[in-house]
Amino acid sequence: MTYTANSHRYQEMEYRRCGKSGLKLPVLSLGLWHNFGHVDQLENCRQILRLAFDSGVTHFDLANNYGPPPGSAEENFGRLLKQDFKAHRDELIVSTKAGYYMWEGPYGEWGSKKYLVASLDQSLQRMGLEYVDIFYHHRPDPDTPLEETMATLDLVVRQGKALYAGISNYQHPEAAKAFAILKELGTPCVIHQPRYSMFDRWVENGLLHTLEANGVGCIPYSPLAQGLLTNKYINGIPADSRVAKPHGFLKENQVTPERVAQIKALNEIALKRNQTLAQMALAWLLKDHRVTSVLIGASKPEQLADSLQCRKNIVFADEELSAIETILQAH
Ligand SMILES: NC(=O)c1ccc[n+]([C@@H]2O[C@H](COP(=O)([O-])OP(=O)(O)OC[C@H]3O[C@@H](n4cnc5c(N)ncnc54)[C@H](OP(=O)(O)O)[C@@H]3O)[C@@H](O)[C@H]2O)c1
Repeated sequence: MTYTANSHRYQEMEYRRCGKSGLKLPVLSLGLWHNFGHVDQLENCRQILRLAFDSGVTHFDLANNYGPPPGSAEENFGRLLKQDFKAHRDELIVSTKAGYYMWEGPYGEWGSKKYLVASLDQSLQRMGLEYVDIFYHHRPDPDTPLEETMATLDLVVRQGKALYAGISNYQHPEAAKAFAILKELGTPCVIHQPRYSMFDRWVENGLLHTLEANGVGCIPYSPLAQGLLTNKYINGIPADSRVAKPHGFLKENQVTPERVAQIKALNEIALKRNQTLAQMALAWLLKDHRVTSVLIGASKPEQLADSLQCRKNIVFADEELSAIETILQAH
């Protein structure tokens, strides 16, 4: 069926400025790491993307290796973009990344100019785009000089293949160096993409401060800890869950009895706040003004619909925060 976008979509969403850049992002962005590969149902992907856009989600996050197989999430996104969202290209922020293994030989991963330039060209081709809005270096490379990697981000921005540069998974001292190099080159880094959730708080140990000090936005990924911070694993492992899927990145040994006890306790607090646990976990991140957008995943439109409602209550009473803290410290 031909798609007509919801005309009220921009009233449904809040947009935050990404660091000190001109770019604004929706407080919820959608990632296509899981659930959008050739192993998945294209019609389900379409329904998730339509619901997202109809709800004011303007930002879609990809990477060269998303699938499986690697590259297929970009191919599917490109197909759906062409079919449904072609008229809306200027309303979309599409990001992709390179850094992890993508093809064999010495030029298929990490941070060399050779790899990054080739990978971005491949991503553009797979998505049928002339440019992406954000191009990220996906993970730090211990062997390539940071200057070479950052100069390549500057290059692709100057070439018009990307509008903005970002980095992902960099610890804070190295992130600060990257920001300084990019600033010097005249292409300031606009965004950092770290893993951050109630269950994984390393960014609180310096990175968030560095980002604010450098005017760089923050888009936490896996804010639901890949689904653990929802009510889905409370009574076992559902057959359609990420843990149950052979290609899922979340493994059964991560669903320990201690984790489940923590999830149950958090769920009790969420219920008292009239929220689902997923909504509370997202709200808990969004209460911090340094967080520009939370980068969620969804395997079904209903999950996205649920997560989108987190915006209704992102204020926490001190007692709620300390009760949450007690549960999180218990692990
Ligand atoms: N830069 C990096 O290195 C990096 C790494 C990882 C991810 N990312 C980005 O971050 C995005 C999000 O990562 P993620 O998928 O791990 O995020 P997430 O939001 O923590 O987890 C998403 C999963 O949680 C479950 N879920 C989501 N909403 C739910 C709800 N309301 N109720 C119950 N279950 C719900 C679904 O799992 P089921 O499949 O079990 O239904 C869904 O696939 C990725 O797509 C990617 O763009 C970046």
